[in-house]
Amino acid sequence: MKPEQDLAGKVVVITGAGRGIGRQIAKGAGERGAMVALVELIRENLDSAVNELVAMGIDARGYLTDISNESEINKNFALIEKDFGQIDCLVNNAMIHDPEDLLATSLELWNRTLAVTLTGSFLAIKATLPGMIRRKKGCIINMGTVNAKAMIGSDSYSVAKAGIHALTRTVAVRYGGDGVRCITVVPGTIATDAWQERVDRNPQIFEKLKPWYPLGRVGTPTDVAELVLFLLSDRSQWISGSEFVVDGGLLAGYAPMFKMVEGSD
Ligand SMILES: NC(=O)c1ccc[n+]([C@@H]2O[C@H](COP(=O)([O-])OP(=O)(O)OC[C@H]3O[C@@H](n4cnc5c(N)ncnc54)[C@H](O)[C@@H]3O)[C@@H](O)[C@H]2O)c1
Repeated sequence: MKPEQDLAGKVVVITGAGRGIGRQIAKGAGERGAMVALVELIRENLDSAVNELVAMGIDARGYLTDISNESEINKNFALIEKDFGQIDCLVNNAMIHDPEDLLATSLELWNRTLAVTLTGSFLAIKATLPGMIRRKKGCIINMGTVNAKAMIGSDSYSVAKAGIHALTRTVAVRYGGDGVRCITVVPGTIATDAWQERVDRNPQIFEKLKPWYPLGRVGTPTDVAELVLFLLSDRSQWISGSEFVVDGGLLAGYAPMFKMVEGSD
């Protein structure tokens, strides 16, 4: 079934669009008629994503950027506005993730995690908001995580993401009067390359995680992208400031526990 053209004419910027969830959102946005600016740190991933979108007939361009670097962000976001005319939607998706526990976390790792995962989103928002405020319209999606809602490891990453959840509320409330919507999407486990190190250590990891997911599986990039694409469209024009959980039921309860409690396990 062909997707609706409900993003036709919109310019959508996605950070960390070279692979995984960001790349899936980029493809989906393009299929729905958007012009897509892909922002990414790794040249190889950026080029391969842009080439894939262009081969699909999508108006897509790549911008090699470290989102933790303010001058790179400002330069490339100004270039995106020049290339496409404006920025209608921003998806703050790039992150780094290191699964160290608190005592094993060096100050350097802590600072780097916050710089990319939290500060990078702040910088991207700062570079994008003035144009949205001028046009009295814009949509910003911040990628959160279930780790910001409950302790599931990855300590510095979880703290950075909790900041992202707060940042959404700040933007939604402060700039709602300017026509800007801001929303947090909160995924559970999604099988992407971000998991590769953990898969190498434990090849059965996604199988082992299944019992925690009431719907019986971990997620896919498409599971998250479908929600993001709806939130980017004008079909969600009265939605702002909220957190949308896409987690196969994970946060609804402690799935392996209830049968033990009832004695049926
Ligand atoms: N995969 C999961 O289980 C999961 C769960 C919850 C939330 N999320 C969130 O979803 C989003 C995407 O996750 P993913 O699994 O696709 O990750 P991923 O690691 O596959 O992709 C992240 C992308 O961001 C890029 N990136 C990293 N640092 C950057 C920087 N400084 N500047 C620009 N780009 C940079 C990477 O090169 C990569 O292409 C993230 O925000 C993540 O926190 C993922």
